[in-house]
Amino acid sequence: NLKNTKELILDAQKSGYAVPAFNIHNLETIQTVLETCEKLKSPVILAATPSTVDYANKEYLIAIMRQAMGKLTIPFAFHLDHFENVGDIKAIIAEGCRSAMIDASKYPLDKNIAIVKDVVEFAHACGATVEAELGKLGGQEDNINVDEKDAFLTNPDEAVEFVERTGIDTLAVAIGTAHGLYKKEPKLDFDRLAKIHQVIDIPLVLHGASGVPFEAVQEAIRLGICKVNIATELKIPFSAAIKDYFTKHPDASDPRKYLIPAKEAMAEVVEEKVKMCKSVQRG
Ligand code: 13P
Ligand code: ZN
Ligand code: NA
Repeated sequence: NLKNTKELILDAQKSGYAVPAFNIHNLETIQTVLETCEKLKSPVILAATPSTVDYANKEYLIAIMRQAMGKLTIPFAFHLDHFENVGDIKAIIAEGCRSAMIDASKYPLDKNIAIVKDVVEFAHACGATVEAELGKLGGQEDNINVDEKDAFLTNPDEAVEFVERTGIDTLAVAIGTAHGLYKKEPKLDFDRLAKIHQVIDIPLVLHGASGVPFEAVQEAIRLGICKVNIATELKIPFSAAIKDYFTKHPDASDPRKYLIPAKEAMAEVVEEKVKMCKSVQRG
């Protein structure tokens, strides 16, 4: 069966690196992530948002992941990212997925806890692991758009209560990152992260890593981040390479040709981000 994220992330926590989690959208982006991580011997998480699952089909995605397990030596997990619908998560776990984020972070604490707890009980009974978020990141991810003024940072005391009452496996923290790129360089609240790390023993997750400087991500890893989510910085070079290809070859029509430079451009960024996570040779 497909892997949950427990072993991957606990090894990262024990050894002081982070497992990179890359958002994938189609066969080509899955191939690029898996082939690059296999080459670097890095464990990896392939993340799919609700729109990706709608676009690519859950059975197809799971079938690709199952086939890949037989071909690769690295540990990897297929993970549902920013799912807000509990029924959808349960249905995809029933199909064989073993890792999910339930994002109820827009609700007040008690409602967030109630929704997350429901998912945790179902998921754990199936051997699946669950990530949830406390606090709220700014920016746009999938169809969720959060204005900067509505974003708020994770409260360490609430986080203790949240982890205890939900039974989650990993906690996504809001410490100043945002989804997408930044207008000016983000300032991460490392003191807050250190405080959360002091009072919480489950692995912590950093969302919105695109646009965050290398050193800042590595400092966050030293302060307890064990999973780093990256989406936007992979989509941009993939698309830019396609645009460039069609500028040079306006009559091109063969996806097996015009997608090759896209995969190569994306692979370079995957490699950089794996190195940033210090997960090379950990798989
Ligand atoms: P970025 O697009 O900023 O990398 O955020 C990715 C993310 O958090 C996916 O859940
Ligand atoms: Zn995210
Ligand atoms: Na970002």
